[in-house]
Amino acid sequence: MIKIVTIIGARPQIIKAAAISRAIQTDFSDQIQEILVHTGQHYDENMSKVFFDELEIPRPDYNLQVGSGSHGVQTARMIEGIEQILEAEKPNFLILYGDTNSTLAGAVAASKIHIPIVHIEAGLRSWNKKMPEEINRILTDHCSTFLFSPTETGMRNLIREGFNDKNKPPFTCDHPKICNLGDVMLDNSLFFAEMAEQKSKILEQLSLEKNAFVLCTIHRNDNTDKPEKLAEIFNQLQALSTKHKIKLVLPLHPRTKKNLEQLDENLQGNIRENEHILIIDPVSFLDMILLEKYADVVITDSGGVQKEAYFFGKPCLIIRDETEWSEIVEEGMAHLVQPKNIFETFQNLSANRPVTGQNQLFGDGQAAKKILHELLENSRSH
Ligand code: UD1
Ligand code: UDP
Repeated sequence: MIKIVTIIGARPQIIKAAAISRAIQTDFSDQIQEILVHTGQHYDENMSKVFFDELEIPRPDYNLQVGSGSHGVQTARMIEGIEQILEAEKPNFLILYGDTNSTLAGAVAASKIHIPIVHIEAGLRSWNKKMPEEINRILTDHCSTFLFSPTETGMRNLIREGFNDKNKPPFTCDHPKICNLGDVMLDNSLFFAEMAEQKSKILEQLSLEKNAFVLCTIHRNDNTDKPEKLAEIFNQLQALSTKHKIKLVLPLHPRTKKNLEQLDENLQGNIRENEHILIIDPVSFLDMILLEKYADVVITDSGGVQKEAYFFGKPCLIIRDETEWSEIVEEGMAHLVQPKNIFETFQNLSANRPVTGQNQLFGDGQAAKKILHELLENSRSH
């Protein structure tokens, strides 16, 4: 039996952890014990608890309840808490997901006390070090022992940074293993899409017609924290929904909600009175994937949502300068857009819909099992 500690904290990590936890329960329960540590980075019920209930993720064994704060304060508190847990639990591996402050905290804590790090979603790069996530992911990759990249682009990025895909066991952080076994989020989308059809009532609740609405999420600090930029985004969304008489559903991240409340009163009033714009609280994952499946177009700055749009064959406008998931853009299924061009790009898209992608870029929906198998194979040397 090997013991792994898994760090989660932000919404997308909780969802990603569902894939690995499910694979342990179904295929490896006699070989792997998982200890779940929630840093408390996200804490609202609809940003955290809802996912445990709905996706049947085991309750966290520890919750550090770190909450919100500046990068330094938040990350430092997490490092302190995670270090204590790792000292007490002495796991064979620490699993980290993605690129949040919770990821970085886990990487710093574990690497200093020589616990091998497994980074799931390794190798992604935006090539923009002003993004806090870019710093988090580079530092985490460079102290990991197992780097599971979800894409071939991720593999190329790692090789470009000096990682060797020919390394042989035993693996260490100085001689790491890098490989692409697929994306655990494809596992989840495939697994939960059918369940969502049965359980989610979101289309009825919001009176939405299938394939006749736009789904939009915004939460990147680069978009939310500059008032002019956020105002431009909302002006464009208003123009788009009014001109095309199409409903626009916006499950609003708490960060965006707070910043929207600081914008000009007139703009806020216009948005409230716009019958085409539905601003709602963050929704559960089953509701979200049903919205993605039946949206006409997705507009987002989220990493996870742009990819899920691709999984469900939906064209996507990515409100960013660059994306870590560049293959979706290269396939023509998504477009990078500046806020001022949202309306125009949406118009062009309506006239020129891209051909649906084939899903082969992100594996076969079995990434979690393959990752666990790989860890078990290599556990003897750890
Ligand atoms: C974090 C991640 C980002 C990820 C996103 C997923 C970092 C640096 N950023 O961004 O990579 O894409 O999560 O959603 O780790 N808040 C609440 N309730 C909550 C959580 C947050 O009100 O449950 C508010 C607080 O005002 C907080 C703000 O949202 O200050 C930002 O939260 P934080 O976790 O710091 O960053 P995110 O923008 O969520
Ligand atoms: N998501 C959700 N409810 C919402 C918005 C997003 O369940 O109201 C899911 C979404 O389907 C995806 C993940 O949260 O799986 C993405 O998280 P987020 O956009 O917060 O972060 P990112 O992926 O950009 O790091």
